[in-house]
Amino acid sequence: MCGIVAYVGEQQAREILVDGLKRLEYRGYDSSGVAILGTPPYLAKAVGKVAALEQRVSQENPLGSVGIAHTRWATHGKPTEANAHPHLDCSGQVYLVHNGIIENYQALKNRLIGGGHKFTSETDTEVLAHLVEEAYSGSLESAVQKALLQVQGTFGIAVMHAAHRHQIVVARRGSPIVLGVGSNESLAASDVSALARHTDQVVFLEDNEVARLEPGTFSITTLENKAISREATTLEIGPEAMELGGFPHYMLKEIFEQPEAVENAFRGRLNHSEGVAKLGGLESVGDRLRAARHLIIVSCGTSYYAGLFARYVFETLTDLAVETELASEFRYRKLNLRQNTVVLAISQSGETADTLAALREAKRKGALVLGLVNVVGSSIARETHAGVYCHAGIEVGVASTKSFTTQLAILTLMALLMGRSRDLSYEEGMSVIHGLEKVPGDLRRILEQSERIRKLAEKYCEARHFLYIGRKYQYPIALEGALKLKEIAYIHAEGYAAGEMKHGPIALIDNSFPTVALAPEDGSYEKVASNIQEIRAREGRIIAVTSEGNSRLGQLVDDVIEIPHNHEILTPLLAVVPLQLFAYHCAVLRGCDVDKPRNLAKSVTVE
Ligand code: G6P
Repeated sequence: MCGIVAYVGEQQAREILVDGLKRLEYRGYDSSGVAILGTPPYLAKAVGKVAALEQRVSQENPLGSVGIAHTRWATHGKPTEANAHPHLDCSGQVYLVHNGIIENYQALKNRLIGGGHKFTSETDTEVLAHLVEEAYSGSLESAVQKALLQVQGTFGIAVMHAAHRHQIVVARRGSPIVLGVGSNESLAASDVSALARHTDQVVFLEDNEVARLEPGTFSITTLENKAISREATTLEIGPEAMELGGFPHYMLKEIFEQPEAVENAFRGRLNHSEGVAKLGGLESVGDRLRAARHLIIVSCGTSYYAGLFARYVFETLTDLAVETELASEFRYRKLNLRQNTVVLAISQSGETADTLAALREAKRKGALVLGLVNVVGSSIARETHAGVYCHAGIEVGVASTKSFTTQLAILTLMALLMGRSRDLSYEEGMSVIHGLEKVPGDLRRILEQSERIRKLAEKYCEARHFLYIGRKYQYPIALEGALKLKEIAYIHAEGYAAGEMKHGPIALIDNSFPTVALAPEDGSYEKVASNIQEIRAREGRIIAVTSEGNSRLGQLVDDVIEIPHNHEILTPLLAVVPLQLFAYHCAVLRGCDVDKPRNLAKSVTVE
């Protein structure tokens, strides 16, 4: 969602800030803005792409080596220049950008207006600039602390003051801020991807902390002005992680990175001598995991479908009772969370507001809360009792691809770990391990079909509606395949459990409404084949994803995509890849903005 970049140093701020915003574009936004403390101070805003702001900034060429910039994803007030950040106070001295939501902004705004403050936007953010103005008496840091103590809600902010030309103050509660420290320059951003080009020395701010940045140095305090000492850590991703490396889009690059990403996800985590997984992040809670009886998985979007997959895997490999729940619905249920309940939050970004809220609720009720997260140091990673990282590498494309397949791989490992401490045999454990080790090679073979799948996309991309069907392990993949098509190609697609098809969707089938049927030769194959017959009988066109060498679908389907044979549990990791490619090629053929689909955001930090 919204993105923040801040710079104070010796270089001209303008290029660093605009480049940073471009690297945050993938998070989703609808307007942007930049302020630079030169002589005179400079402020520019634009609605739409960062390119519009970039053009203006390069024409106007503002000078100055301290500045803040922002990409906005509208919550309070439309995407207009007036509502775009940075926001200013009445005196025009304070410049502020904000991610998050100020829940008590209306009460604060009324009070400030009563005190004579003039507002120029409809945003909740603007109250912060006026609160800083009101609290300012020589120290920007102290004014920010005092202002934030009055605020309810979430924030990641960066603030400058015209009287402090070598200083930026940042703060966070619920919305990430990371500091980057170079020689004679300091940066801050909402996401490491905006910093990686400049420094590998970073510091993650914790909730309710304020940091003062000066060129090459930083200091951190709490909102109550208690000093905090924290060392910088070295960033593991290099700047090249953010480059396209010859691919036309990040999404395609990330689809092709999956063999390696899955390999990284299980590297060092397989124990062949005992037929079990080794997950260091769960060792501290080993006893509670052995005592667990009940597993509830919470997540959103693509991560939710990973959770649905996990339900089948945990039920197969362990004796746990498993439920998968949308994080946004979790709070409306009256679940009996006990000492032996484990709640597992799955999230690529580790910042999804609904997932965070669900895990906080589960913690409050005494459950052991685990995380499966890709972004190291993210809020979910920090707030869970224990967890496992995906190691998928940075994912820029808004539509999740390699995060999903690595989530499936690690969920399989988690189930294997818990299964082997229960009744799962060594042989069964080893057959999962062998299957997993085969996955990267299988994925490479599927990726070789990209051009063929592009031709299928050419044949089908004019369809206005699609049905995706699958059973058991393939049911979540049907949902994920349909989601991908909706997200990036803007084609209406319904993901359905194949058995449910007769209870509604079949009424829609005719020769203009194609179906993608997930039909690998697993335990559900015969039943899915019957569903394919039923669609065929209604003149529906069908693309089947099936196992290599299966000739039984014959004349029943129009097109076949083959995937290698593997353990039934692992087939979803393979079957999803042709669906990612299909959605990708449809989106490109339809002229869609693949990496930045309209209205969507990479990290959804509002509930
Ligand atoms: C957004 C993204 C999706 C993602 C979902 C959950 O909607 O566009 O790709 O699946 O959020 O995000 P998370 O980071 O929690 O996995």
